[in-house]
Amino acid sequence: MCGIIGCFSKEGCYEKLMAGLARLEYRGYDSAGVALLSPDGALAVRKKKGGVAGLAGAPLPGDTGIGHTRWATHGKPSDANAHPHVAGKFALVHNGIVENYARLRAELAAAGETFVSETDSEVIVRLIARLYGGDFFAAVSAACARLEGSYAVAVLCSDFPGQIICAKQKSPLVAGASGGDLYVCSDIPALAGAAEYVCPAEDGEFIRIAAGRVVFCDGQGKEIPKVFTRLTAASRAETGGGSFMEREIAAVPRALADTLASLRASDFAPCARAMRAARRVFAVACGTAFHAALAFKDAVERDAGVPVLCHPSSEFRYRDPLVGPGDLVVAVSQSGETADTLEAARLAKSRGAYLLSVTNVECSTLAALADHNVAMRAGAEIAVAATKSYNCQLLCLYYLAAQLTFFRCTRWPAWFSSLDALAPAARAAFDSFSAVRALAERLRGAGGMYFIGRGQDVRTAAEGALKVKEIAYLFAEGCAAGELKHGTLALVEEGFPVLAVATSRRLAQKCENALAEAKARGAYAALFSQYEDVLSESCADFTCRLPAVTEALMPVVAVIPLQYFACSMCLLRGYDPDKPRNLAKSVTVE
Ligand code: G6P
Repeated sequence: MCGIIGCFSKEGCYEKLMAGLARLEYRGYDSAGVALLSPDGALAVRKKKGGVAGLAGAPLPGDTGIGHTRWATHGKPSDANAHPHVAGKFALVHNGIVENYARLRAELAAAGETFVSETDSEVIVRLIARLYGGDFFAAVSAACARLEGSYAVAVLCSDFPGQIICAKQKSPLVAGASGGDLYVCSDIPALAGAAEYVCPAEDGEFIRIAAGRVVFCDGQGKEIPKVFTRLTAASRAETGGGSFMEREIAAVPRALADTLASLRASDFAPCARAMRAARRVFAVACGTAFHAALAFKDAVERDAGVPVLCHPSSEFRYRDPLVGPGDLVVAVSQSGETADTLEAARLAKSRGAYLLSVTNVECSTLAALADHNVAMRAGAEIAVAATKSYNCQLLCLYYLAAQLTFFRCTRWPAWFSSLDALAPAARAAFDSFSAVRALAERLRGAGGMYFIGRGQDVRTAAEGALKVKEIAYLFAEGCAAGELKHGTLALVEEGFPVLAVATSRRLAQKCENALAEAKARGAYAALFSQYEDVLSESCADFTCRLPAVTEALMPVVAVIPLQYFACSMCLLRGYDPDKPRNLAKSVTVE
């Protein structure tokens, strides 16, 4: 987390840096800062605790600059801990974690360095300053060689006006260009509207902006030829009014239609063998993507008859999983940069498994690592809490489940012909929004809530609860309806909200029974279903009719009112849905 940016622009780069930082803010917003270098070598730094808006002031002079938005790891959010960090002639911004920082810090302190922050990042800039003997690139390269952990850094040196040296190891970094303006940045969406062409860096590579050119090189400074690709409109953030989260929910139908078109144009033949022969199927992901992975498990087990082992990425990597040659591992990540998922994917690959990724960012690290990437076309997602990318992840994973079924059982699941109904149904789900907002108004003061469901609805319940926790700051738990009576019910008292999702006719009655048991203990019961009779016969205090698609695809649609519910709760409680406290969208540290 943390976002870094660097910019060279002959006309001055302050405004461009600030605009870039604003677009990067979803990666962290504890503090922000910029450093600008003028052609005469003057270095100006402005940094502050709080968001990018807090940095506003008179433009700083300079044609070369670096900037940072922080999500604190080492050291609390404060002005001193904000980046850029400065040592002698150098200013540096960093995304990642230097794991051997304590040792390096002790060594530098013993050599006479005085530290002014608590960050791990400050050791990098002090190390560079110590190693500097007149060769800017050599000093950065030598310092990086001593670092353990992850980093994407951008560095200025007052002896080298017009230059930025960057290095990458396990944290994302891309270069961008547009006319004479040159950029480096943590990710591509933040360059949308600024850079016309982009190119991601790989681990161990350096990027050097100098003499009006951007060049990739190795640790010795030897140039690595690269091809820049044109930045597509798909990388742009949703425009319109309201928060990004509201816009991104509104974009779900478009995102589903684009993703379906892209899936239909994709060639799954390259992974046919791996799918057909897979000994076992694993799925790894974090947060929202993990809920999508669980939905994948439901579909594959039901349709292809193959057991799927689902692990949160952070657990997979540390539990010595039984993964090996002949296994298929599906890694799901909107950003394709989540450190835990990347490490899980690397582990799977190192053990000989076939790695399939599902990402929203085609030139992400995960997509590059995978043997095959399935691209969703949600478009840039800015709000920290994932919405449209979840609907698209579900669509991609169901599509993948259908391929697996075909390759293994030589038949397509019955629902496969109904995918075109998803986008219109998603749009129809918006009809419930005024009622859902009224529900949020009714529940805005609640101390917590449960979301329940059965079968595939357990995933939707878990995702609904996660959204409420993330942005409305309310305790919420998503659980299997049948589990309520095995402990969870103890917390239900007068007025405690229990929101049930019942999209499977076969299980609807069972879900309703659980809701009735909660209501008998005073719960405020809400029920979401596409079945009119289920809703009318229920005991619920609030009912929401979902648009109907074939049952197997209902999770894609059923989650939409819950996404909107969480967003409404957040806004009614006076919070910012786009920037929830303590969180960041792209978690590029462990
Ligand atoms: C963070 C975000 C979540 C997201 C998770 C996984 O925790 O706050 O919204 O679901 O990362 O992100 P990914 O990019 O891997 O899907």
